[in-house]
Amino acid sequence: MINKTNSHVFISTNEYEARRNTLLANMQPNSLAIISAAPEVTRSNDTEYHFRQNSDFFYLTGFEEPDAILVLSNQSETSANQFFINACGDNSASAIFVRPKDEIAEVWHGRRLGKIDAPTALKIDAAFNLEELPELLPELINGHECLYYEHGHHPKADASIAQAIQACKHSPKQAKTAPKSTVDVSQLLHSMRLVKSSQEINVMRTSANIACEAHKQAMKMSAEGVNEYQLEAQILYCFALYGARHAAYNTIVGSGENACILHYTENKDELKNGNLVLIDAGAEYNGYASDITRTFPVNGQFSSAQKDIYELVLDIQKQCIDRFRPGVTIAQVMLFVVEETIKGLLSLNILSGSLEECIEKEAHKQYFMHGLGHYLGIDVHDVGNYKEAGQDKPLEPGIVITVEPGIYISSSSEAPEKYHGIGVRIEDNIVITNEGCEVLTDNAPKEVKDIEAMMKQPLNLDIPKLF
Ligand code: GLY
Ligand code: MN
Ligand code: MN
Repeated sequence: MINKTNSHVFISTNEYEARRNTLLANMQPNSLAIISAAPEVTRSNDTEYHFRQNSDFFYLTGFEEPDAILVLSNQSETSANQFFINACGDNSASAIFVRPKDEIAEVWHGRRLGKIDAPTALKIDAAFNLEELPELLPELINGHECLYYEHGHHPKADASIAQAIQACKHSPKQAKTAPKSTVDVSQLLHSMRLVKSSQEINVMRTSANIACEAHKQAMKMSAEGVNEYQLEAQILYCFALYGARHAAYNTIVGSGENACILHYTENKDELKNGNLVLIDAGAEYNGYASDITRTFPVNGQFSSAQKDIYELVLDIQKQCIDRFRPGVTIAQVMLFVVEETIKGLLSLNILSGSLEECIEKEAHKQYFMHGLGHYLGIDVHDVGNYKEAGQDKPLEPGIVITVEPGIYISSSSEAPEKYHGIGVRIEDNIVITNEGCEVLTDNAPKEVKDIEAMMKQPLNLDIPKLF
């Protein structure tokens, strides 16, 4: 019997509405924001990739249909756009264009919310059919001073908006006026998305728990002769069992030397006794990503050379987590990581020379060539500025980041031969709290003894209850 996820872990319609209101409150007065949903994308011939909503549109609506257009207004009373008021009601500010109901299309391709049900389901004031966009968008735009929009995402939406602006500009006897300026809405939206609410953190905790369980299953399944793609299958199976039907990014299962290819996704080799395997896999659950990496021995027992590298990375990773708290920057902790990584590589005779020389030459980059971590949220590499006025942006409560140091020693390196083919990354997800941080991904073992103990357990398809 499989226990399903707790269906209460989601973002409420009220929170989506509150996000729209926050955006409106942060816009210049008498402005309009337009945010478009993603289009469907052809995979081949007449089949599509699984639909993935545009992240900004999802953040403001939670609505999972393609092509929709969200229109938000904070118009002032004096320059009131009467059409908006008539359509939406006096104090209202939101309208959405959705695919029309269509009996045949719905029999073939799936249900559509439709304009009758959209206002209640989405807590949006007015809904129209997408077919009405050319006629109604100029009416909605008319009279607003400034348009908030991000060009370049969705060519069809770009064209519709350009057309609507032209229609305002060229209206007979200037009956309509077009916005005088356009502002990239993503700056405002992305600074909102950077700091997570308690509902978002709950969803992300669930996403993290699902991914931890998947990593545990993969550890139990690992053995000589198993294929990388079979571990990937076990992970995706586990995600789906808990309600995360999709991974947040392509799953990386790299055994032996493949672990040294940072974004290796071929996942086609057979696991060999004596090698490590690196798995970087995260779930997308109710729209939110987790991003976890664990590295473990194929046969369940770390060799002494593997332990040298693994424990160095683990020790650095745990010390990083201890350092993250409000006011600290990722770049500050990265300086610590670089110094500790170089010290460790010197002590293992993988690097030579003095600490200062190695820091000066950035000698670690031969073996640790990526950043320490990134923002995490609706996107795995989530939005939000890393710099403010040219300075690194300090972390604040509610920001979720990854912490993912690593060391990768390919066979072509000059390191002692016993280390060749060892690639280690350990990646956790943390949320900054008032006091420090909370690790969301603690349920995936990372201590040597805990990994070895986990790998002794049989793979049990009777999936345990997580929530
Ligand atoms: N999974 C990609 C990354 O760790 O950033
Ligand atoms: Mn990752
Ligand atoms: Mn990551």
